[in-house]
Amino acid sequence: MIKVEHLSKTLGDQKILNDISFEVATGEILVFLGPSGVGKTVLLKHLIGLLKPDCGSVIINGKDITKLSRVEQLKMRKDFGYLFQEGALYDFMNVFDNVAFPLREHTNLNYQQIRGRVREVLDMVDLDDVEAKMPSELSGGMKKRVGLARAIVLGAKILLCDEPTSGLDPIRSFDISNLIRQVAKKIGVTMVMTSHDVDNSFRIADRLAILNEGHIEVIGSQQDLLSNQHPFVKEFLKPEAV
Ligand SMILES: Nc1ncnc2c1ncn2[C@@H]1O[C@H](COP(=O)(O)OP(=O)(O)OP(=O)(O)O)[C@@H](O)[C@H]1O
Ligand SMILES: [Mg+2]
Repeated sequence: MIKVEHLSKTLGDQKILNDISFEVATGEILVFLGPSGVGKTVLLKHLIGLLKPDCGSVIINGKDITKLSRVEQLKMRKDFGYLFQEGALYDFMNVFDNVAFPLREHTNLNYQQIRGRVREVLDMVDLDDVEAKMPSELSGGMKKRVGLARAIVLGAKILLCDEPTSGLDPIRSFDISNLIRQVAKKIGVTMVMTSHDVDNSFRIADRLAILNEGHIEVIGSQQDLLSNQHPFVKEFLKPEAV
C-alpha cells in the first residue's frame, strides 16, 4: 500500500532524512518513534506530498506520488486523513462545522446527509453533545477526538496521525491511544503515526520504527525493538525514571 524507497531530504543546511526505506501493508498500523526534532513530522509530510524528497520515491498503491502533477496530487489527497500535531481545528467554527468541512468541500452531500455522517464519526470517537461547542471550549483530549473525526469523515484509506498524545495527561493519552487503534481497525485504514510516547505507541502499533539521525535504526514488532542492542534504541526505550 505504502512503499518509501531511499528517501532523503535536506532542509536549510540540515540533512533531516537520509536514505529512508520502509513499507506499510494495507490495514497495518506503523508507528515512527524518535526524539523531538528527529524528523518525524517531516517524514509524515512526505507521505501526503506536502514535502517533496530531494531523492527517493513515495509509492502509494503502485503510484509514485512525488511524480504526480498538482491536480493529480490534490485528487490523491482525498484518500488521506491527516491528524495534525497541533490539532489544527478552525477556531472560528464549532465542532459540527469543523467535522463537516471536508464533506462540504469535497462532496455533494445535502445537509441531512452531512449531519448523518458527522454524527456517525463523532459517535465513533465517543463524542456526544459537543457539536455546538467551539474548539476553545474543549479539553485537549476532546480536540484530538474532533481532529480524528475530521480526519476520517471522508472515508480515508490512509490515516496519518502526528503525535496524537502530545500535550495530553497520561490518562487522556491512554484513552486516545486505545480509541485510535479501535477506530483504525474498525474502518480498516492503513495508518502511519508518529510519537515519542513509547508505551502508548506499543499499545497502538502493529509494527514500529525508531528514527535516529535521519535513518531508521530499527523497524519491527515490539519484541524486535525491545531486543535490539543498539545503544540509542536501548536508551530511547528505557522506562522513564520517576
Ligand atoms: N520547513 C522547514 N524548514 C526548515 N527546517 C525545518 C522545516 N520543517 C522542519 N524543519 C527542521 O527539521 C527537523 C525535524 O523537524 P520535525 O518537525 O520533523 O521533528 P519531529 O521529529 O516531528 O519533532 P517533534 O517530536 O518535536 O514533533 C527540525 O530540526 C526542524 O527544525
Ligand atoms: Mg513532529
